[in-house]
Amino acid sequence: MTAERAYVPAAGHDRWLSLYDPLTRLLGAQAALRELLSRTELRPGLRILDIGCGTGTLATMVKLQQPQVDVVGLDPDPKALERAKRKAEHAGAAVDFVLGFADAIPFPDASFDRVMSSFMLHHLTLDGKRAALADVARVLKPGGTLHVVDFVSAGDRPRGVFARMLHADDHLTDSGAGRTVALLERAGFTGATEVGARRTLFGPVSFYRAARADAVGR
Ligand SMILES: C[S@@+](CC[C@H](N)C(=O)[O-])C[C@H]1O[C@@H](n2cnc3c(N)ncnc32)[C@H](O)[C@@H]1O
Repeated sequence: MTAERAYVPAAGHDRWLSLYDPLTRLLGAQAALRELLSRTELRPGLRILDIGCGTGTLATMVKLQQPQVDVVGLDPDPKALERAKRKAEHAGAAVDFVLGFADAIPFPDASFDRVMSSFMLHHLTLDGKRAALADVARVLKPGGTLHVVDFVSAGDRPRGVFARMLHADDHLTDSGAGRTVALLERAGFTGATEVGARRTLFGPVSFYRAARADAVGR
């Protein structure tokens, strides 16, 4: 199982992957994931997609919190997906983990009620973000919603030292909250809003919510 093109993996490089979970836990990422979860309006019967699921922490949390939803985790990194599968199995959470990119989601139009994304958008170039958000709009059902948490970058609020160490500046400079809301609007979402913000040890992060407009992807 291999991805067919380049991507920035979870910890910036394969060799750091085993440190990703302990490091992000230490730096307070779990609290941000819990806040994203609490903002995602889960209810039984929904179909949820986590794009850039990495080692599967969020997807597993979703299934444990609301067992009556279907959860799919998508990531181009087969090594991260192996870890994700082990984590979900160990937790007793039935989650489907699928290899793929956020701009070529391997599901038909209008497949999901919710799409979630944690700390993934800053891994993409500006064009990559545009393409990914367009494909998210395609796979969301009309009225479905997208829920995102990600770093906010310089020009918006100061960003943290760990974010600077791990990630290329050209990716982070597109990650201001205003820029992200504008990207969501341009991708055709309605009600795109920064719904919250918090400080973490790896830098300030913001939460976003946007709804699929009926015309998108049709
Ligand atoms: C910082 S990690 C976040 C992982 C997880 N969501 C979390 O909160 O721990 C970013 C993830 O995005 C994935 N990624 C990078 N490029 C991607 C793309 N084009 N489409 C989907 N996922 C991508 C990486 O493989 C990595 O697992």
